[in-house]
Amino acid sequence: MDQERQRHYPPLPVMPKHVGIIMDGNGRWALQRGRRRLAGHRAGVENLRHVLSAAVELGVPILTLYAFSTENWSRPEAEIRGLMRLLSEALEKEVDELHRNGVQLRHVGELSPLSDILKEKIQAAVALTRHNSRLIANIAFNYGGRQEITTAIRSIIRAGIPAAEVTEDVVAEHLYTADMPDLDLVIRTSGEYRISNFMLWQSAYAEYYISPLYWPDFDKDEFYRALQCFAQRDRRYGGLKDA
Ligand code: IPE
Ligand code: IPE
Ligand code: MG
Repeated sequence: MDQERQRHYPPLPVMPKHVGIIMDGNGRWALQRGRRRLAGHRAGVENLRHVLSAAVELGVPILTLYAFSTENWSRPEAEIRGLMRLLSEALEKEVDELHRNGVQLRHVGELSPLSDILKEKIQAAVALTRHNSRLIANIAFNYGGRQEITTAIRSIIRAGIPAAEVTEDVVAEHLYTADMPDLDLVIRTSGEYRISNFMLWQSAYAEYYISPLYWPDFDKDEFYRALQCFAQRDRRYGGLKDA
């Protein structure tokens, strides 16, 4: 810790406004150590605290963390129950400190299938921290990109918006991230090269950084490396570089 404190992270010429992290590899981290997958999830939650502090220190304004996908319901029941319990415990233990540190917690995804207790804890954390502005941390829990777009289409139709008036802006306004900028950078840990239904709309022009580290090992150094790498990217958005 002291060592990390002494390490210097020079300011970068360009910073992403919005970073998404696909926190992957908890299970493999645990199995590699001869432990059960849930031990990996526990280590992953512990690491989340460090990464949230690192985001504040490095100056990332908005972070979206993929914690449980709509596809993760297909895992064994015991693992799902364990993941729900870990989120519930983390909210109980960490929210006060996150609040003191100026973190605004938000939830993206569908709350209705979650237990009443978990729903209430999430809503309470969101309500408590809503005026904070040092870091916006979106927790994507029971989140799926296709589900998000489907829900947006439904609410556009329900609002009676005529087809000719459905623009890209209208669609964006009906997503969970309505008031937020698109993702600039998506980081995926554990060396997997896929999107796994994460923020399909918002990542249309995101830059990608694949870290070989399993999520419990992803630290401030590696986060900084991802940001350095982002700062060197040449983003063209389909256009051409100035001659
Ligand atoms: C990421 O770790 C956490 C969730 C998807 C809930 P995994 O559980 O996917 O870990 P691996 O990919 O099996 O190692
Ligand atoms: C993506 O990881 C979802 C989260 C990190 C929450 P998965 O482990 O579920 O994705 P796949 O199965 O490798 O695509
Ligand atoms: Mg995985």
